[in-house]
Amino acid sequence: MTISDVPGIRDDERRRDAHDFDPVRPEETFTSAHEEFQELRSRHGGLVRSQEYDGFWAAVGYDEVLQVITDIEHFTTRKQNAVPKFAFTGVRPPLHLDPPEHTAYRRVINRFFTPPRMRALEPHVREAAVSLLDPLLSERWVDVCKQYAHRFPAYVFAKFFNLDVATSELIKNVSGTYVDAIQVLDHDTVKSLSGRLYEIAQGIIDERVAGDFDPEEDLTAGLLAARHEGEPLPAAMILGCVRQLIVTGMVAPGVFTGNMFVHLSRDPALQDALRADPSLIPAAVEEMLRLYSPYRGMARTAREDVVLSGQLIRQDDPIALVYTSANRDEKVFPDGERFILNRDNIQRHIAFGRGTHSCPGAPLARMMMCITLEEALARTASWRLTAEPEMAIWAEWGTRSVPLDFVRA
Ligand code: HEM
Repeated sequence: MTISDVPGIRDDERRRDAHDFDPVRPEETFTSAHEEFQELRSRHGGLVRSQEYDGFWAAVGYDEVLQVITDIEHFTTRKQNAVPKFAFTGVRPPLHLDPPEHTAYRRVINRFFTPPRMRALEPHVREAAVSLLDPLLSERWVDVCKQYAHRFPAYVFAKFFNLDVATSELIKNVSGTYVDAIQVLDHDTVKSLSGRLYEIAQGIIDERVAGDFDPEEDLTAGLLAARHEGEPLPAAMILGCVRQLIVTGMVAPGVFTGNMFVHLSRDPALQDALRADPSLIPAAVEEMLRLYSPYRGMARTAREDVVLSGQLIRQDDPIALVYTSANRDEKVFPDGERFILNRDNIQRHIAFGRGTHSCPGAPLARMMMCITLEEALARTASWRLTAEPEMAIWAEWGTRSVPLDFVRA
């Protein structure tokens, strides 16, 4: 008997052939994707199907996403770790490796996100935020995405990764265009920009090999000095890892930051409350991370036939992890579409994933978002939207343009 013969497991071709949703909707607004995901969850449960990108499952329920990301025996990141798949862009640890190979890279990376490291980085993150926010105050109309959210991660990353700001801004620009090209399936541009990002990563490595960098202070030098079972990590994997870090660290903060400004424009009472009492900001950021989780196209592939939510998933089927939807699942977060400051079970949100591949950058991301709000609220009397925000498209969810009327304090 095979797994598909087990009574109660759905393997009907109708579900496989179903087209429950289109991942790419050019007309998306700030609320439309969440409305659609809510509808999908209530109509189909936590697992849906799309025929786009050669067909894929999408885990839109909390339990389904959690099952996939914590079951490394049945789901791998080695084959297809994003929807859509771009086959030619290479293996990049840690995301593209499973344990045990994955562990050697995470061991090094995790050392750079400890609380003492974050405390040491904090003044630099604040300085970057202030240097970008201050000039905006004299310009009454600002696009907080283009003038702040898309630049801030490059400044922070330069400090975190020991790069000059020019290199970091170059990475941010190239990776921004790269992500845009992925969204529109522009294979030639993805290929050439991925190559460019590899060149930049190689340049960072070459500088460490030639120079005097302390492996305890510099992440790339740390990877070069690391030993796994007595051997150095393979050069191609170190290159892949640096290439992954320079892009991953920029994408999510860039697409998430504008969401906070939109939310607070739409809720002036909350804006005033946070301005009056900044100690509420970390809890507000946490609830916004839940409400506006930026990833919906990260994925896993089934290593073998496996059952998810009563549905047979066949070997090699890709499954998108729709964190954007899972974190609003009413089964776990009552009134999940609403912002509730200090909701009881906020620590259950999975905006940073869970388990093996959970985000190592979470402490830095949280710090960046809290500092952004602290400094922006302190410098303004209010802000409000002057037009509808423009949205990024699948595989991220979030804003790419947020025009604001920024009123100085
Ligand atoms: C708002 C900001 C951020 C969010 C919401 C976020 C979210 C996530 C999520 C959901 C994952 C897991 C993906 C999966 O399950 O396939 C992840 C992985 C990862 N993130 Fe983040 N991230 C953010 C910022 C950052 C930053 C600032 C860095 C680095 C400086 C970073 C580096 C990484 C890396 C390297 C991985 C792969 C980890 C592994 O495979 O072991 N992220 N992130």
